[in-house]
Amino acid sequence: MTIPIPLKESLFRITGDTVEGWDSFLETFYNTFFASSPEVAAKFKRTKLKHQRLLLRRSLESILKMAWSTEIPIGLDEIAERHDRNNLDIRPYLYELWEESLIQTVSRVDPYFDEEVELSWRIALEPGIKFMIDHYRAS
Ligand code: HEM
Repeated sequence: MTIPIPLKESLFRITGDTVEGWDSFLETFYNTFFASSPEVAAKFKRTKLKHQRLLLRRSLESILKMAWSTEIPIGLDEIAERHDRNNLDIRPYLYELWEESLIQTVSRVDPYFDEEVELSWRIALEPGIKFMIDHYRAS
């Protein structure tokens, strides 16, 4: 699994690879995502606050894993099923908000954010998001 250099460097600048760095990144992302639409907050209504952060970290990790490997990561099938029409019912436009919130967060917290960094993030997120949306449409 090889992480593209601009993305790897961006992630490191943001989190410093420390627990505190990750926490603060996730908090900013979480606030941005929740403010993006009342539907986002509504979907997480029943989720405990502490659990939400963990979920965000897990969702980010699973989606990045997909970008860095040539296979569908173990577990992504189940995650996609959990989000489909018959379960959490996460409509495709919510993934757009998810991606835009993440890019907005990175632009705020990575001091070296530029077009190349943005593109490296978007390219990494695309396969996983497409997988989730395709699964939703087929459900
Ligand atoms: C970008 C891709 C996404 C990935 C990879 C992802 C991943 C995950 C994972 C791993 C879980 C935990 C599943 C479990 O173990 O129970 C989860 C739960 C959840 N996700 Fe996502 N997610 C994504 C996008 C979204 C979006 C756009 C929304 C829209 C609001 C959303 C809403 C939720 C909700 C409501 C839960 C359940 C929380 C609970 O258990 O109370 N997710 N997601």
